[in-house]
Amino acid sequence: MGIVGARNTTEVRNIYDRAARSWRWISIPAAICGFNRLRKKHFKGVTGDVLDVACGTGENFNYLRGARSVTATDLSSEMAVRARDRARRIGLDVKISVGDAAVLPYEDGSFDTVVSAGSSCTFPDHVAAFKEMERVVKPDGHILLVEHSRSSVGWIARHQDRSVERVCKRWGCRINRDVAGEIAEAGLRVVSHERSHLGMLNRVEIEPRQRSVPRGTT
Ligand SMILES: C[S@@+](CC[C@H](N)C(=O)[O-])C[C@H]1O[C@@H](n2cnc3c(N)ncnc32)[C@H](O)[C@@H]1O
Repeated sequence: MGIVGARNTTEVRNIYDRAARSWRWISIPAAICGFNRLRKKHFKGVTGDVLDVACGTGENFNYLRGARSVTATDLSSEMAVRARDRARRIGLDVKISVGDAAVLPYEDGSFDTVVSAGSSCTFPDHVAAFKEMERVVKPDGHILLVEHSRSSVGWIARHQDRSVERVCKRWGCRINRDVAGEIAEAGLRVVSHERSHLGMLNRVEIEPRQRSVPRGTT
């Protein structure tokens, strides 16, 4: 059963258009809880052509400096405005567009790495979005996610269960989600999944199923 009060695409867009102005304050608790340290750890080695899906105000940009090119997209034009400001401020050349992660406007196999952080919890159609990430990454590329999820600690998980409707109405966010389960729904191939912070934060690496089979193994 879906979450009562879950948001559709227009509602999520409106939520983040409104939140954009205050996002720098809203994102402080996540930063304090170690979210940025995880971004740094997970994204530090990225090279080549990189796509940041649902980039928000560009919180990932600082960690993508090793890339040859950075492309980013978000549903909210107001978040995208702030992302452009941030890119300019930190001197990173980022091609930013506004659009839905469920229908990415890129050719198959366009990127060496697709990254996304703290976002897929808000996607109205997370299955379509994960499949799109896989479609646009190169066969030998990677999808790197930093995501929050339902805690592995019972009382915290129960608190998340009780709060999910309220949080979903306010932020479009499924705070008690099962990240591995959602990725599995899309049929993607997870090569590593590390949970930390009481099971609430997740670093996931995914390889596309279209990855070519190394020579000599068939
Ligand atoms: C919680 S914010 C996180 C933003 C950013 N990745 C970060 O780490 O700060 C969620 C973002 O996902 C975006 N979003 C939600 N649904 C989306 C969709 N279907 N397609 C693209 N972006 C989406 C929202 O507009 C918002 O900017």
